[in-house]
Amino acid sequence: MTEQKSIKSTHSKFKNTNQSWGGRFNEPVDAFVARFTASVNFDKRLYEHDILGSIAHASMLSDSGVISESEAKQIIEELQNIAKDIDTGAFTWTEDLEDVHMNIEAALIDRIGKVGKKLHTGRSRNDQVATDIRLWLRDEIDEISTLLTSLQEKMINLADSEHQTIMPGFTHLQTAQPVTFGHHILAWNEMLERDYGRLKDCRVRMNQCPLGSAALAGTSYPIDRHHTAINLGFDKATENSLDSVSDRDFAIEFCSFASILLTHLSRMSEELILWTSAQFQFVSLPDRFCTGSSIMPQKKNPDVPELVRGKTGRVHGNLVSLLTLMKSQPLAYNKDNQEDKEPIFDTVDTVKDCLRAFADMTPAIQINKKEMFEAAKSGFSTATDLADYLVIKGLPFRDAHDVVGKAVAFGISENRDLSEMTLDELTSFSSNISEDVFDILTLEGSVKSRDHVGGTSPDQVKSAAERALLKIQNR
Ligand code: ARG
Repeated sequence: MTEQKSIKSTHSKFKNTNQSWGGRFNEPVDAFVARFTASVNFDKRLYEHDILGSIAHASMLSDSGVISESEAKQIIEELQNIAKDIDTGAFTWTEDLEDVHMNIEAALIDRIGKVGKKLHTGRSRNDQVATDIRLWLRDEIDEISTLLTSLQEKMINLADSEHQTIMPGFTHLQTAQPVTFGHHILAWNEMLERDYGRLKDCRVRMNQCPLGSAALAGTSYPIDRHHTAINLGFDKATENSLDSVSDRDFAIEFCSFASILLTHLSRMSEELILWTSAQFQFVSLPDRFCTGSSIMPQKKNPDVPELVRGKTGRVHGNLVSLLTLMKSQPLAYNKDNQEDKEPIFDTVDTVKDCLRAFADMTPAIQINKKEMFEAAKSGFSTATDLADYLVIKGLPFRDAHDVVGKAVAFGISENRDLSEMTLDELTSFSSNISEDVFDILTLEGSVKSRDHVGGTSPDQVKSAAERALLKIQNR
């Protein structure tokens, strides 16, 4: 009710000059409705790709004999001039012309007159916008792939140089078994490796050209869809015109990739935040990645990882927005789809910033080897090694587990690690224990013994880092 009132009250102020569909209308579009339905304020970001699509369309129209060669030439030249004007800021956008497509088309008609009116032959804004976002997102995907690869390279290098550094490995955030820091960082890299694969898959499915689908049913002009598709670097033309103008799966897929990536980055962020705390002190971040507190003089806060962790929320939100946007939409195009752009733009911007933040931070992480080592020593992290030792000496695993449990209880009461007990003390728990036990009770012995593909031994980590590097170099 209130909305209706406001629509009426602004009606007299109507200034809309959009003539694109003027023929059928008895009264001009209401000023509020014009503002409400306009998207140019955000979709002008697509201008470069909109013009690329229009140039390919004009060239196809002339090759197919729908417009003349000289008309196509005139259209293409002026579209290039418009692109330059937009680049330099000399172009005036107007909300009255609703979106990026109509702003550019109106400028073309304004500048070259009648010939400009021929550009929209055999197409609709529906296939035009579907093409534009794909072209735009494809370029962004390529940039994101490069950023992701560069972050992976930095992580792999860090893992390689820390392949011998010992830290506690955790389950339930309780000290579990010693691992190498390089192994931990390579675990991060594996997450990113899968993210990269998802991004590539998404690009493959996205790289099909909707142009020629027109409003929904195709067009009666003798167009050559293959021509435009190849010209624009697509692998092929899409198969079904109804699907082409309404499909936004590629955007959902991209946002799913981004959501999983941000989930991964949030896990890494969380670990950096924990590790930089006074309670862990495993690593320090240079001051340039941190801020202080206005009240507590001692504070140095890990703002960058905290913000990456926080930004995960908006990226997940964008995915949910798109899924909800598409849910229950009947075929074919619906105006709802105009709402796809802001979540996509925001996701791209956020992903690029977060990857950059991590790529800058990763080589700058300062590792406090001593603290990590001490922490690994303090939680009976070699207890499993002692149990495995007893199994090799002939005890069934369950009995070995029980023996070690008793030794750990003794260690807790004495405040001593297993490696700090005497041989006599240890043999009191099992006569199977002899002098060689100390080889495996040390942290170095423990990590060294996990010497298989995917294990944490320094040798394995070194070769895993080499393999990982080779993989990204061969992309
Ligand atoms: N601005 C519109 C969008 O982003 C372009 C397509 C409009 N098509 C239409 N028939 N109203 O979706």
